[in-house]
Amino acid sequence: MALLEVIGLTKKFVGVVANDRISFEIEKGEIVGLIGPNGAGKTTLFNCIVGYHKPDQGTVKFNGKPITGFKPFQTNRAGIGRTFQIMSISGSLSVSENVMVGSFCRVSDSRTARQEAAEILNLMELEQEAQARMNELPIAAQKRVGLAMALATKPKILMLDEVAAGLNPRETEEMVALLQKIHAAKDLTLFVTEHVMEVVMPISQRIIVLDGGQKIAEGKPRDIANDERVIRAYLGEKYVEGRKH
Ligand SMILES: Nc1ncnc2c1ncn2[C@@H]1O[C@H](COP(=O)(O)OP(=O)(O)O)[C@@H](O)[C@H]1O
Ligand SMILES: [Mg+2]
Repeated sequence: MALLEVIGLTKKFVGVVANDRISFEIEKGEIVGLIGPNGAGKTTLFNCIVGYHKPDQGTVKFNGKPITGFKPFQTNRAGIGRTFQIMSISGSLSVSENVMVGSFCRVSDSRTARQEAAEILNLMELEQEAQARMNELPIAAQKRVGLAMALATKPKILMLDEVAAGLNPRETEEMVALLQKIHAAKDLTLFVTEHVMEVVMPISQRIIVLDGGQKIAEGKPRDIANDERVIRAYLGEKYVEGRKH
């Protein structure tokens, strides 16, 4: 049985079908990349799965049970974690306290939360920053804290939207290495979006491609990189025509 199943999911906004009958499955332990140009529908799909949006049609199942229409706290309790947007991280709290906020989604005593936070900060290579205020940190470290907070909720699947946004090439490489490390250490399933396809190619076992709200391809990274529909979606008809001559 798949860990996450999305069946015929459709989400419309005024004048746009952001997700058009999308179906796919994710197995436990996989790293799956969701790519597509800006506006393809990646964030909307994530929001429908975690419960920020209610799909117009379709079903989402987690561990075989329907979770369609669940609220975010319910999908989180079921085991779906997503990175907190940087805006939701409190700048006046320390890094360690922010990670404890994630633990407090499950535990109520601060000693346990503090211990868990210390362990996660260690894994995320953030020990040096533990007592720093969030607003003193560079963007790359803030993103790692966002990941640490999500990990502290002990998800079965972690969904990361635009993993490389705001990072330079070196920081992007470090983030990708860190994702591989937490995948191995935490027995996690990862579902990662990125509009720059090269970022998720090296870590993904499987790639799903969206364009204009539709799933246009799914497969191994190497096959996806050579798929004419995917190339066309990213670069336009001209590039494909040029390659043929
Ligand atoms: N809350 C919203 N209200 C109206 N339109 C939206 C909303 N969110 C997204 N859209 C539209 O849905 C489409 C998909 O957007 P999005 O899911 O953010 O794409 P991506 O994350 O792949 O860049 C776009 O055309 C976008 O303008
Ligand atoms: Mg997006």
